[in-house]
This record gives sequence, C-alpha cells and structure tokens, in this order.
Amino acid sequence: MKHILDELERRRAQARAGGGERRIAAQHAKGKLTARERIDVLLDEGSFEEFDMFVEHRATDFGMADNKIAGDGVVTGWGTINDRVVFVFSKDFTVFGGSLSGAHAKKIVKLYEQAAKVGSPIIGLYDGGGARIQEGVEGLAGYADIFLQNTLCSGLIPQIAVIMGPCAGGDVYSPAIMDFIFMVKDTSYMYVTGPDVVKTVTNEEVSHEELGGYRVHALKSGVADGAFENDLETLNQVRRLVDFLPLSNREKPPVRETYDEVDRAEASLDTLIPANANKPYDMKELILKVIDEADFFEIAKDWAKNIVCGFARIGGESVGIVANQPQTLAGVLDIDAARKGARFVRFCDAFSIPLVTFVDVPGFMPGTRQEGGALIKHGAKLLFAYAEATVPKITLITRKAYGGAYDVMSSKHIRGDVNYAWPTAEIAVMGAKGAVEIIFRADMNNPEAIAARETEYKDRFANPFVAASLGYIDDVIMPSETRRRIARALKSLKGKKLENPWKKHDNIPL
Ligand code: HXC
Repeated sequence: MKHILDELERRRAQARAGGGERRIAAQHAKGKLTARERIDVLLDEGSFEEFDMFVEHRATDFGMADNKIAGDGVVTGWGTINDRVVFVFSKDFTVFGGSLSGAHAKKIVKLYEQAAKVGSPIIGLYDGGGARIQEGVEGLAGYADIFLQNTLCSGLIPQIAVIMGPCAGGDVYSPAIMDFIFMVKDTSYMYVTGPDVVKTVTNEEVSHEELGGYRVHALKSGVADGAFENDLETLNQVRRLVDFLPLSNREKPPVRETYDEVDRAEASLDTLIPANANKPYDMKELILKVIDEADFFEIAKDWAKNIVCGFARIGGESVGIVANQPQTLAGVLDIDAARKGARFVRFCDAFSIPLVTFVDVPGFMPGTRQEGGALIKHGAKLLFAYAEATVPKITLITRKAYGGAYDVMSSKHIRGDVNYAWPTAEIAVMGAKGAVEIIFRADMNNPEAIAARETEYKDRFANPFVAASLGYIDDVIMPSETRRRIARALKSLKGKKLENPWKKHDNIPL
C-alpha cells in the first residue's frame, strides 16, 4: 500500500518541479517568480487547490512523444483572496516556455467552465511563448476555445489578466477580451507579432520592450490598466482590486466595515476650486477626501490622465469613480479619455457597482488629429456607456460642464439619479470668451463691449442655478459636505430597479 501512496507523492513532486532546476534558476535570475510561487503570493496562504496536475500533451511530432512534463505548462485551480473564491491559471515558462498545446488549452477551458458555473472571478497569470510550435493547428484551435470562454464569461465573472513575462501571438487576445490587464515593469511585454516578424515585414528594428513593454501599453496604447514594479507588488495589487469587486454578476459587490464616518465634513474642499476658472487643481484631492480612508484603486493611472477612473468605497460600499482631471489637458474629453471612461463605466454597470462621477470638463478636444482619429465614434462610446448604465448614478459638477461633455458625463438627461453641483459650477454651452466671440462677432473690434458681454454671459451662465431652476441639478451643495451627501444619495438608491428594453444585445459604437 505504502508504495502506492508514495507514487502519488513522487508524481506530485515531479509535476511541481516543472521544467527543472536549471530553468527555475533562470526564471529567478530574471527577477521573476515561478508559476506556483506566483499563485502562493496571489492567494490566501494554503488555500490553493490544483486541478489537472497530471495532464500531459498528446503531440508526437518533433520528438515530443518522449518529451512530456506533467501539467503541460500551465498550473490551474482555485483558492481564496480574503476568503472569497477565485479561479487561477498561471503559465509556467519553465515548461516548453509556457507555450500553449491542445492539452494546455483544455485545462484553461475547464477552469473557465467551472468558474462560470460557480460564479467566481478568473485571474490569468501570463508568462509564455504563444502557440506551441510543435503542435501546429492544435494550438490555434485551443486558443479559439479559450477566446470563446473569455467572450461568453464577459460580464458574467470578472476576468483579470496579469502579464508577468512574454505574452505573444495567441496569448494576447485573451487578456484583450478580459476586463483588466496589469503588467510587471521591465519583465513583461505583449505583442501580436514579435521583433523578428516586425523586422521581416516592415524592416523596423525594435526590442521586445520598445514593441510591447509597459511603457507602450500602460502609458501610450492603453492596452494595460497599470504596471507595477515586480511580481510581488503586482500580485498584491490584484488582491487589492478583487476586494472591491463582486464575485460575479449574480451578486452585489462586497461591503466592508469602515471606521471613516460617512458624515465626515472636509472644510478644505470649500477652497479647492481656484478663483481663476482657467487654473487647474487636482481632482484626485477631492476623490481621496470623499472616499473611505482615502483607499482608491486607480485604473490606467498613467494613460489618458485627463480622466480618472477607479474603485473606492463610500460608507463601506464599493463604487466606481469617474472624474475629469483639470490638471491634465484641462480635463478635456479626447479619444483616449472616452475609451478609458467608457470601458470602466461598462464594467461597473455589468457588475452592479454604483457610479460616482465628478465633472469639471471644458468639452471635447478640438483638432484634426482628434477628428481624423474618430473622436465622434470614440466620444459616443462614453455617452452610450453612461446612457445604457442602470446602476445607481450620482454626479457632482465641481466647476465646468460645457457643451456636449455636460450631457455625456452622467447628466440628468441620460438617467443620472442624483445630480449635484457645487456653487462654483458653470453649466453652459461653452466658456464665456468663446461664446461671446461667436454670438457678438460684430463687436469684436470693440474690446469694452466684448468685455461687458463676457461679464453678462458669465453672470447668466457661470453658475449652477439656471440648471437647478430647470431641475437638471437636484441640489447645489456645499463642497465640505460632499462625502455626506454622496453617501446619503447612495443609501437612497439602494433599492434602484431599472431595466433597459429587451434586445438581443446593443450595438455600442465600437
Ligand atoms: C514551443 C517554445 C515556444 C513556443 C518558447 N519555447 N516559445 N516552445 N513553442 N511557442 C521554448 C523554447 O524552445 C525554450 O525551450 C523555452 O521555451 C524558453 O524559450 P527561449 O527562447 O529560450 O526564452 P527567451 O529567450 O526568454 O525568449 C522568449 C520568447 C521566445 C520571446 C517567448 O521563446 C519566442 O520568441 N518564442 C516564440 C514566440 C512565438 O512566435 N510564438 C508563436 C506565436 S504564434 P528550452 O527547452 O530551451 O527551455 C501564435 C499563433 C496563435 O501564438 C494565434 C491564435 C489566434
């Protein structure tokens, strides 16, 4: 009997050894943890239950029949993050470079099916070389099977991709469909085709880093939602994020006890807005002062900084915050900001996370680059996302709410539930100067007349009371009382029930 039991232990030890000591040492030498070490950091201690540890590939070409490693390059299973169940797959770069075979793909598909049944998030840790070259079409088929799962589970369970090494070819499209992508600085990169193919096709010479490192995706392309210093920090940040999210669309987000009083007043907010309307201020100061314990998980913090998106709690309840940032490009809405905001709003709506929107927006970004880049379609994404969202929507206009951007930013007209403004709000078609230059063009060479018209326009529109008199703003509130008023608004909306008309699905302007 004992030898049978020992055999299990022997096989387990062999599977855990992955591609062997040499390759594990090489992984460590690059500053990377192994697939299993990463899972240990991500999950609560001792909570991991592995599936399919003994799965092997079935390839025979190129000497593969005699080259099998139990687990086949991906570790899958489930465990807990702060006692809540999550499913995890972690690509093992030490085994065939973490490349994807038919068997490897089946392990991931099986995990997805289980996570969807149970209603728990999937977290994928990527570190691999794409389709297993020795297997040919099996790899392509396997990828498609996974893409289907990614798609069917979208909006059902949160899906988080963490790029911790190479992520190339077929591997990139799963993260792209998933909800969030995080990268590890300097050790991870993602691209559809690598430097060699680029050189052949375009004659361009680039490094992995230049082609798909975090500087490309977390700063420029917006493909990644954040990048962190190393494996440890990245995985700990993912734990933090999961704490804000419901496990699936079947349940409400978790509520966490807070010692931060909901009626805490913040006197400093009464002076946040500078006297000069053209002067910037930091919208994050408002966010941090309003939320519980200044605990803010920001999404895509280094991309499209003119809009700030992230998760926080107010009165212990998770909320999604969207805010224009006057400190970057005066908080204008451009293509990137609209894309970033729209995707975030849709995630929150899919997972019943109330939206709190802080508005200080001078409008949409003018210019040939923006128009030529399809600002109309991209801007419409944010509008569409807010308009279709049925979660509780609370809006606060701190200063500018000009033009179409006023409509877009969760206005009353697209079903904002509670719309507040500070006394400093200016709700108008455009700024006073621009408005006067258009409607009083004839007076343009009379500076005194123009100045008088500007003052007249400001007196009439540079305040929240016209909108409030029409019921488009529910109340004008003292800045110092913002936290209390938002917390109370959230409370009043707890029972909100709103459904969109039946349809197969909508047709968001992609
Ligand atoms: C099989 C692979 C592999 C692959 C790497 N390995 N990629 N084995 N299939 N795709 C193996 C290597 O043979 C090596 O094995 C080990 O993994 C480590 O690889 P190295 O090259 O030594 O590592 P490194 O120098 O760090 O380079 C990593 C890399 C490179 C950049 C990922 O390996 C690489 O370019 N791989 C190929 C990437 C690729 O073109 N994939 C196909 C994409 S096409 P040993 O035994 O020496 O440890 C695709 C199509 C799907 O994915 C489309 C679906 C829509």
